[in-house]
Amino acid sequence: MVTEATEEASPQSEPIILPIARGVGLHKYYGTGETRVVALDGIDVAFARGRLTAIMGPSGSGKSTLMHCMAGLDRPDEGTVYIEDQPISTFSQAALTKLRRTQIGFVFQSFNLIPTLTAEENILLPLTLARADVDRDWFDLIVDVVGLRDRLTHRPDELSGGSSSASRALVH
Ligand SMILES: Nc1ncnc2c1ncn2[C@@H]1O[C@H](COP(=O)(O)OP(=O)(O)OP(=O)(O)O)[C@@H](O)[C@H]1O
Ligand SMILES: [Mg+2]
Repeated sequence: MVTEATEEASPQSEPIILPIARGVGLHKYYGTGETRVVALDGIDVAFARGRLTAIMGPSGSGKSTLMHCMAGLDRPDEGTVYIEDQPISTFSQAALTKLRRTQIGFVFQSFNLIPTLTAEENILLPLTLARADVDRDWFDLIVDVVGLRDRLTHRPDELSGGSSSASRALVH
């Protein structure tokens, strides 16, 4: 797959900004024997801080696998993922859980909303789990920006695909 996410070299006058996330020599395999799939085959990639980066490729080319490894949801079989220069591929499960709760947001291809919770409860779930305070002004602002105000008491099976996506995107 193609993973061209690096920036061009900065002119000397500009400070060099380190990428926020890097993958070095990433390999990921699924299955064994005849059913073995090489999902990532030696991927080197860097994500610039403060930029939107799109990863494109055919279905089955490894985009989700790459993102799961980059976000610490899964481990590469070979290679290292760095977030802010920390080698997260070596982190314990407890350290990865904390990293995902505090530093990484993830919108899954299937939204993974909790079916028994309302849209508002789903949005606030990471804060609830972390026993962190809710910034109500910020919550109100982003809920209005994405147009979820009238849907906050609805459960996921009562949300449209777009509203589910918005709920999931607001989780972090
Ligand atoms: N849990 C798994 N077990 C076995 N094979 C898997 C698993 N997850 C992914 N694969 C295989 O790994 C390859 C990469 O899959 P991946 O889901 O990363 O692709 P993708 O680029 O995200 O595809 P899509 O565009 O369809 O979402 C595919 O061949 C897929 O069948
Ligand atoms: Mg995918």
